[in-house]
Amino acid sequence: MEIITNTHLPLPFVRKGKVRDSYSVDDKILMISTDRLSAFDVVFEEGIPYKGHVLNQLSAFWFDRTKHIIANHLLDLKVPPNLPPFLNGRSMLVKSAIPVRLECVVRGYLTGGGYTDYKKTGMVGGIALPSGLKNGSKLETPIFTPSTKAEQGHDEPLTPGQAINLVGSQTYEQLKQKSLELYSFAHDYALSKGLVLADTKFEFGYLKSEEKMILIDEALTPDSSRYWLREKYDQGVLESLDKQYVRDYLETLKWNKQPPAPKLPQEVVQKTSDRYLSAYMMLTGKELSV
Ligand SMILES: Nc1ncnc2c1ncn2[C@@H]1O[C@H](COP(=O)(O)OP(=O)(O)O)[C@@H](O)[C@H]1O
Ligand SMILES: [Mg+2]
Repeated sequence: MEIITNTHLPLPFVRKGKVRDSYSVDDKILMISTDRLSAFDVVFEEGIPYKGHVLNQLSAFWFDRTKHIIANHLLDLKVPPNLPPFLNGRSMLVKSAIPVRLECVVRGYLTGGGYTDYKKTGMVGGIALPSGLKNGSKLETPIFTPSTKAEQGHDEPLTPGQAINLVGSQTYEQLKQKSLELYSFAHDYALSKGLVLADTKFEFGYLKSEEKMILIDEALTPDSSRYWLREKYDQGVLESLDKQYVRDYLETLKWNKQPPAPKLPQEVVQKTSDRYLSAYMMLTGKELSV
């Protein structure tokens, strides 16, 4: 399996994100998940085997499973003709949308940046939480804690008031309701497959032709979500099948989290790949199509 960290296709180029490359195909977008890995918003040199396939196929899986909650941008998993075969399994043709300028984060458990903020202020995204919570504590009810969608650099957490100022109260309520509904559905499903969906991030967009809001970008992947092994969680251990493993490794280095990224040891690359593949197989019950 070829590891792909860059693409150069004979199609009009739309955007290079940290992980996905987009090209236009008529009025649609061909979104390609590369094997690039980003952590702390820095993209690493090394690609992660199968990562692009996992992100693409897991998103497709969840888009299909959640379409009763909200429509999404996925049109086709077939690659348009006359393009290189490495695109198969890592690409989707999507509807072009105007992204809502919010990262719609939902947390059902306290961890990561949310836990850091809680330790400092007792709050996450302007929402006060009970005292005495620990890393990994399940919240009484999932909370919607959107952040800014920065073009460059880090996304900043917002209070509900700040988020409403950015998108308006009607859109805010719609984003919140859909995000919470998607999270709860996915949480319960994942739990039945042996995984705890601790938190996740959604992106929504408007179709140019209509006022309708749809789910865009990726959905419920190990890049956009934290998944823990349920068995370990029940024993009080947070074992992540996602990027947390890389973040934990990076925390052991004396790296200031600014580019250039440090080299990732082969073992970290391999173990990250294994974790992404495990998440895919546990959630879908299928082998990855490569
Ligand atoms: N249907 C869509 N229409 C327009 N833009 C989209 C659509 N789906 C996703 N995007 C955008 O494409 C980019 C996906 O690439 P990604 O590597 O995730 O970028 P980022 O570095 O911003 O996370 C994101 O900026 C996302 O907002
Ligand atoms: Mg992204």
